[in-house]
Amino acid sequence: MKALILYYSCSGNTRRLGQRAQEALLSRQWNADIFHLRDFDADNYPYHPDLIVLGVPVQYWDVPNSARRLIQKLPPFKGASAFVFSTFGKCVINPVPFLLAKELIEKGCTIVGGGQIVAPHAAKVDGRQRLGDLEAAFGRGQPDDAASSQFTAVVQGIAEKIDMKNTARIELAELKKLHTRGMLASLMGYCTSNRERMWFMPHIDYDAAMCKNCHQCIESCDAGAILCTSEKEIAIDKGRCNKCYQCIDVCPSGALGTNWSQAVFWTRAVRLFAREAETKFAVG
Ligand SMILES: Cc1cc2nc3c(=O)[nH]c(=O)nc-3n(C[C@H](O)[C@H](O)[C@H](O)COP(=O)(O)O)c2cc1C
Ligand code: SF4
Ligand code: SF4
Repeated sequence: MKALILYYSCSGNTRRLGQRAQEALLSRQWNADIFHLRDFDADNYPYHPDLIVLGVPVQYWDVPNSARRLIQKLPPFKGASAFVFSTFGKCVINPVPFLLAKELIEKGCTIVGGGQIVAPHAAKVDGRQRLGDLEAAFGRGQPDDAASSQFTAVVQGIAEKIDMKNTARIELAELKKLHTRGMLASLMGYCTSNRERMWFMPHIDYDAAMCKNCHQCIESCDAGAILCTSEKEIAIDKGRCNKCYQCIDVCPSGALGTNWSQAVFWTRAVRLFAREAETKFAVG
């Protein structure tokens, strides 16, 4: 049997789980390829997978904008089974597994399972402290061992069912039930767009004097929001920026930054609406 694992990841949590899925499938003698969505070349991918595993982090209560664009460009996978998952911090609302399932159904897949995995451990990025509270609040770190083991068992269980030709489609309503609930929060989630929610978060600041013109930020930006304006300078297109703060992590010279106190303020404000997030799965 053949599996194709596709993920989107900024700080590594979702990638780690994608790798766990690959290990789980290899241990069942499956072939399992894994790609960051950005690196997947559908035109030159020769196999027709039996199982698609698709995972992304939650960003601003939604599928990250850049990931959504890449997912929509995927080819049809007619007849394949699919397992969808999201990683998230302390979430107000997490419709992401449900949204991923909808995308894959349009591509001809049958959804056989989904899950949301909490990645709550705060970690410093590149040993720097400046992400501070934002880090802790968003939980950029890694899923704990219990959640990772649960994830592995679920993927192995799905592979076993496919091997036995015993898979069952799950209802999308099951994926909706995974959401971290809270009436007011859910209402806010459905009434505002992803762009509106990120509006409160600070823009990227650029200090040209510190820039080494290495272009690592340009390569890291999946939104194509960083432009090379001259031999010495770059510029951020605020209209395109998804405020994922990935470019700040990769900049070796400290030329990129943001107003973290504003970010921390809004993150804390949003957390007031959040309930404890739970790792949960739904399997057909
Ligand atoms: C810009 C940004 C926005 C985020 N928004 C949310 C959110 O709305 N809800 C949530 O629970 N977690 C949110 N998170 C936390 C991530 O979903 C979580 O840390 C995830 O595990 C990161 O996965 P990755 O390491 O694969 O990028 C956000 C993280 C970032 C960087
Ligand atoms: S400019 Fe930076 S923060 Fe904005 S989308 Fe690109 S990588 Fe993310
Ligand atoms: S990564 Fe930093 S140093 Fe390199 S071009 Fe971008 S802003 Fe300049």
